[in-house]
Amino acid sequence: MPKIRIEQIDKSRLLEIKEFIPEEFDQVAEKFDPETDITWAAINGDKTCGVVWGHQYEHNKENCFQIVLLKVLSQFRNQGIGTMLFQTAQEEAEKRSVQVIRTNFKGNDTLPVAEKILTKYGWKKPEATMYYCESTVDKFFKELSWTNPSRYASYESYIHPWSEITPEELETIRKTEGGYFAQNAESDLLWDKEKVEPVNSLVLRNGRTLMGWLVTHRHKPDTVHYTSIFIFDEHRGSALYRAASVKALCLQKEAGIPKSSWLASAKDKKVLKLWNMLYNRIMTKSDTWYQSEKIQP
Ligand SMILES: CC(C)(COP(=O)(O)OP(=O)(O)OC[C@H]1O[C@@H](n2cnc3c(N)ncnc32)[C@H](O)[C@@H]1OP(=O)(O)O)[C@@H](O)C(=O)NCCC(=O)NCCS
Repeated sequence: MPKIRIEQIDKSRLLEIKEFIPEEFDQVAEKFDPETDITWAAINGDKTCGVVWGHQYEHNKENCFQIVLLKVLSQFRNQGIGTMLFQTAQEEAEKRSVQVIRTNFKGNDTLPVAEKILTKYGWKKPEATMYYCESTVDKFFKELSWTNPSRYASYESYIHPWSEITPEELETIRKTEGGYFAQNAESDLLWDKEKVEPVNSLVLRNGRTLMGWLVTHRHKPDTVHYTSIFIFDEHRGSALYRAASVKALCLQKEAGIPKSSWLASAKDKKVLKLWNMLYNRIMTKSDTWYQSEKIQP
């Protein structure tokens, strides 16, 4: 095994770990909060070969710790570095007296190794929780038969821009299960849920009655993430869901943003079936996200 030292990386040194999170680096670095975020690097000579990043947060009144990132460069794998970094983060969580330690990570060819580390230290076997999917606005309108906007003209009066939302409606959305804070809330640390995308987030209402909403976030400059589409029970079964989706995609098209992304829960088989039926053939990318956790004694 090479001579490895583990060093805590404070905010001023974050650039040293940029190659571990190239795409999200700027967002992550900006949001780094020394009170709640803590990062270590595994260093061999002057080469950073692995990183672990922990984040403390509160969820449902529980004190939680999330391992946001654990990654070892491929040429340094299978030498015990991943385990060392993992142990460092786990010990930190224990020091902080958290009730739950979690991790969410994208499935890849090292899943059996991650599973080995986690289960060895008493964590649950990682379970698939989410599918992250991407498509394009172009494909949405060209390849799906139900996306012609003229079919939904009679729904126009129910669809309003997010800028029109009332404080009462916002409160309802926050409280409702399936609301825009609910989806993957504990793992979506990169996104500020309050920064709803104004281009195509929508409020669905009839007169003063809130019927549902469609909330998006700007995931990357070229991608709108469809965070939450929710229709109250009594308005389901109509074409309101499709009308709102088509409207949002039209607005996205007008704004010149080419890509869309969404998460589908692996556990909600009914919704998953619907999502597959509606979007499977236009998907340009799909990643499976896994979750594991350990409840602290
Ligand atoms: C998961 C990851 C961090 C592991 O790092 P690593 O430095 O290779 O891990 P370790 O060397 O400590 O190996 C952990 C265990 O897996 C075993 N292992 C590692 N690579 C292996 C391989 N290719 N074949 C068989 N066993 C292997 C090790 O022998 C060790 O087992 P042991 O505890 O019985 O000794 C690394 O593969 C990685 O960066 N993957 C991509 C990112 C990722 O998926 N992160 C997971 C987040 S939880």
